[in-house]
Amino acid sequence: MLEREISVLLIEDEPEVAALMSAILKKAKNIQCQVDIAGQLTSGIDLLSQKKFNAILLDLSLPDSSGLETLRSVYARAGGTPIVVLTGIDDEEIATQAVRQGAQDYIVKGSTDINGMVRSVIYAIERKRSEEVLRKAHDELEEKVRERTAELQQANKNLLKEIEERREKEEEVRIANFRLKETQSQLIQAAKMEVVGGLASGVAHEVKNPLAIILQGVEYLERKIPSDDQSIVTTIGFIRNAVERADSIVRGLMDFSSIKEMNISKQQIVPIIDKGLMLLKHQFDKQHIKLEKQIADNLPDIAMDRNKIEQVLLNLLMNAADAMPKGGTLTLKIYTKDNLPDAMSLIVEILDSGSGIENDAIDQIFDPFFTTKRTKGGTGLGLSIVRSILETHKAGIEISNRPEGGAQITITFSI
Ligand SMILES: Nc1ncnc2c1ncn2[C@@H]1O[C@H](COP(=O)(O)OP(=O)(O)OP(=O)(O)O)[C@@H](O)[C@H]1O
Ligand SMILES: [Mg+2]
Repeated sequence: MLEREISVLLIEDEPEVAALMSAILKKAKNIQCQVDIAGQLTSGIDLLSQKKFNAILLDLSLPDSSGLETLRSVYARAGGTPIVVLTGIDDEEIATQAVRQGAQDYIVKGSTDINGMVRSVIYAIERKRSEEVLRKAHDELEEKVRERTAELQQANKNLLKEIEERREKEEEVRIANFRLKETQSQLIQAAKMEVVGGLASGVAHEVKNPLAIILQGVEYLERKIPSDDQSIVTTIGFIRNAVERADSIVRGLMDFSSIKEMNISKQQIVPIIDKGLMLLKHQFDKQHIKLEKQIADNLPDIAMDRNKIEQVLLNLLMNAADAMPKGGTLTLKIYTKDNLPDAMSLIVEILDSGSGIENDAIDQIFDPFFTTKRTKGGTGLGLSIVRSILETHKAGIEISNRPEGGAQITITFSI
C-alpha cells in the first residue's frame, strides 16, 4: 500500500523543467507530494544525506556529472530509495542501460503527461517496496531453513548417539547372557562332580577290597592251572584285564574324594612339568613324539599342591600322547600375561599334533566317564579330575582344536 504523503528528490539542472515537474507531481490526485529540487549532483547528494525520500527523479546530464556515472553516484548513496531516471528523447539507449544498472524506471523528458509521470514515480516506489518485501520474505525463509536444518542436524546427531548407546547396551546384554550361560554350564558341571565325588569315596572303598581279593585269586589260579591249556590262560587273562580296569576306575574315583585335601605351597611350575616329562620320556620316545619347549624366563611362583598339579600335567600329557599314536610334536609353552594393572596370569599351553577332538565330543570331554578310549583302558575320569583340581587352585582350563590339527590345552593360573 502506498503512503498518501510522499517526498521526492528531483535532481534537475534546468530550472524550467524542474519547476514543471515539481508542479506536475504536486498536482497529482490521491497523493500529497512534497518535492525537493537540487540543480547539481553534489547538492542532490547533500540532500540525500540529510533527509529520507520515497523516490529520486534524476536527470543524468548535470553540470557536475553526466551519463550513467550520475546514476552510479546517486545509486551508491540512495540507500535503496528507488531512482527514476530522466532522459532526453534521444537517450533511450542510455535509459535502458540505467534500468539495468539499478534505476527503477525512466521518464523521457517532454514526452510525459502528468498521469504518466506520477504513475511512473508511484510504480517505482511500489516496485521497490515489493522487492523489499520479497527480499525480507526470502531472508526470513532462508533463516527458517537454516534453523530447521540445524534442528534436523541436531536430531540426527541425537539419533546416532541413541543408536550407538543402544548398540552398546545390546553388546552388554550379549556379554551378560554369555556369562550367564557359562556360569550355568559350570554349575551343571559342578553338580555332576558333586554327585560323582559323593559316590566316589563310598563306592571306591567298598569295591577296593573285593577287587584285591579277586586279583589275588586270579594270581593264584595263574600259578595253579597248567599253562598248556590255552583257553584257560586266555580266560584268566580276560579276568585279570577286567579286574585291573575296575581297579583303575576305583583309583580314579578315590582321587576325586581326595581333591579337596590340599597341601598348598608356593613353587615353580617348570620342575613339576619336567618331572612329568621325565616319567613319560620312555613312552614319548617309543611313540616318536618330539618335544618342543617355549618357556619364558623368570616365571613367578604359584601357590599349589605339588602332587595334584603333577597329576594334572601327567593326565594332560598322557592324553596328548594317546592322541598321537603314530608320532608327532608336543609343544609346551609357559609364559605370563598382564591383565589389569596389578593382575597377572601364568599360562601353560600344551599343544599336540594328534587327532584333535571330535566335534560332537567337545562338550562332553570334561564329563566323568566320558571316554573314546574305553577299549584301550580309558576310564574317562582324567579330565574331570584335572578340572576339579584346577578349580580348587582357582585356575581355568580350556581345550580346543588347533586349526592346523591336534588339540590345544590352555591352563590359566592367576597370580
Ligand atoms: N589331547 C587330546 N586330543 C584328542 N582328544 C582328547 C585329548 N584329550 C582328551 N581327549 C578326549 O577326551 C576324552 C576324555 O579324556 P579323559 O582324560 O577325561 O579320559 P580318557 O583319557 O579317555 O581316560 P583316562 O584319562 O581315564 O585314561 C578322551 O577319551 C578323548 O576322546
Ligand atoms: Mg585321559
